[in-house]
Amino acid sequence: NEKITIYERIGGAEKVRQLVEAFYPRVQAHPLLKTIFPEDIQPVMEKQYLFLTQFFGGPPLYTNEYGHPMLRARHLPFPITPARAEAWLSCMHEALDEVGISGLEREQIWSRLVMSAHHMINQQEK
Ligand code: HEM
Repeated sequence: NEKITIYERIGGAEKVRQLVEAFYPRVQAHPLLKTIFPEDIQPVMEKQYLFLTQFFGGPPLYTNEYGHPMLRARHLPFPITPARAEAWLSCMHEALDEVGISGLEREQIWSRLVMSAHHMINQQEK
């Protein structure tokens, strides 16, 4: 049934939590990313958990807490180059592999994340 959301098909809250927990250690280890993220990553993980829940079609947890995501605007304080967008996507690709998100859900999630990451670019390489 195509009315069932991606959120439900991947396994709901537990799987989104696993994905976030697989993603941020990679971000913190990546030479291009670790410099722009805060050392205390827990608050970022929590916001990403709320955001991805609604991004995948689950309950609007992020919006309930923080209002309209306006993600491009919220990222403007950080220099996001094309190389950083690719780095972010590579960490996410590995995280999706680690938590075993595959098949049609994976394809749908991946194409949306690629579009969003490219949309976040706000600075060219220097
Ligand atoms: C926040 C980097 C793409 C979702 C952040 C922060 C950084 C960052 C540095 C702020 C951390 C802090 O609070 O200090 C990047 C980079 C990206 C990228 C380099 C590469 C393209 C994305 C994408 C999404 C996303 C594609 C969603 C699909 C979020 C969310 C927050 C956030 C939800 C928290 C926003 C808030 O403060 O409420 N990101 N990001 N990011 N990012 Fe990204």
